[in-house]
Amino acid sequence: MRRILVTGGAGFIGSHFVRRLLREYSEYEVINVDKLTYAGNRDNLRDVEGEPRYRFVLGDICDRQLMDELVREVDAIVSLAAETHVDRSLLGADAFIRTDVHGTYVLLCAAREHGIERFVYVSTDEVYGEAPEGYSSSETDPLQPRNPYAASKAAADMLCLAFFASYGLPVVVSRGSNTLGPCQYPEKMIPLFVTNALRDEPLPLYGDGRQVRDWLFVEDHCEALDLLLHKGAVGEVYNVAADNYRHNIQVAEAILELLDKPHSLIRHVEDRPGHDRRYSLDWSKIRALGWAPRCGFDEALAKTVAWYGDNESWWQKARSGAYQEYYQRQYGWRLEAAARQEGEQ
Ligand code: NAD
Ligand code: DAU
Repeated sequence: MRRILVTGGAGFIGSHFVRRLLREYSEYEVINVDKLTYAGNRDNLRDVEGEPRYRFVLGDICDRQLMDELVREVDAIVSLAAETHVDRSLLGADAFIRTDVHGTYVLLCAAREHGIERFVYVSTDEVYGEAPEGYSSSETDPLQPRNPYAASKAAADMLCLAFFASYGLPVVVSRGSNTLGPCQYPEKMIPLFVTNALRDEPLPLYGDGRQVRDWLFVEDHCEALDLLLHKGAVGEVYNVAADNYRHNIQVAEAILELLDKPHSLIRHVEDRPGHDRRYSLDWSKIRALGWAPRCGFDEALAKTVAWYGDNESWWQKARSGAYQEYYQRQYGWRLEAAARQEGEQ
């Protein structure tokens, strides 16, 4: 294996993964194809732009001709390109169906046509739907996605497995848990809350804030993807998680404490519709392959908060323009209703 095509490498996890491949494998060449949607940012990989083993291609995974050209050149594909934010999928899912479902299908067709050694599809724990208290989803569980983002990822995940069963395409699927770290677009809870707190703005916590997520540091997630690219068994699915369970309200409070800001910045706002209460994965299968996360939650959160503190121009730019329209649409009425309720009490 020498040439790897990474899709979505200008995004959060993708940019860390591209950097990791270039750092760990001096003989590898990496092509990063990314459409640069609102979530993609070439600044995330400025430090490797001059590296001769790295090439950035501005393009859409739905473009079959371009995917044919790129896939023909490579030995393996790691597919991260996606629309990724649940709240945006609830506002309208067209782009999710187009990129996450159809785009993955286009890539699979190109991979089948040109032949590759490995196709790693980066799926998500959301495909299982919410996990009841005390239960952890395993790879053989049925998929029961409950929001449009999760459903589009589940469709793509199953298409990948179908291409293995039908055509023997050497697919490996990862289903990862909530990931945190530097360079995450400030729409997801942690970077949104950190950047709001840095601006002394309220932290809009959905519902009672007692929902549970299992937090995985981005470098650990990338190490798992690296292992699956090289050692994952074809046709297999691997859960990737960290057992770093936290209620959302605990995360919000921890962020405020790290930044020395008051807990009164937390605003309980109207919940996300169909909000999955809890995710939990049994990740013993990838553990048996030799992976375990290295970074605990407190360390991961401290590193993440410090990065946003040190990189204000990165997130101020991300929060400008169309972000403001999205923010207003998603949070304007929620925050107004919360303020009204507070006034009435
Ligand atoms: P992100 O939103 O930060 O980045 C997605 C990237 O894909 C962006 O650079 C964007 O420009 C690109 N992209 C979008 N549509 C494209 C298209 N049609 N063609 C080419 N590029 C396109 O996402 P992320 O959080 O880094 O997630 C990466 C992958 O990991 C996704 O597939 C996501 O479903 C999965 N995942 C994410 C998490 C998490 O907590 N962030 C957890 C588990 C799995
Ligand atoms: O579980 C893996 C998934 O994690 C990935 O597949 C997704 O791409 C990624 O976006 C993430 O999905 P979540 O919906 O869990 O992440 P998000 O950061 O949006 O929300 C985390 C929790 O915080 C969730 O319970 C909703 C809550 N939340 C989120 C936002 C944005 C709030 O309470 N307020 C908010 O403003």
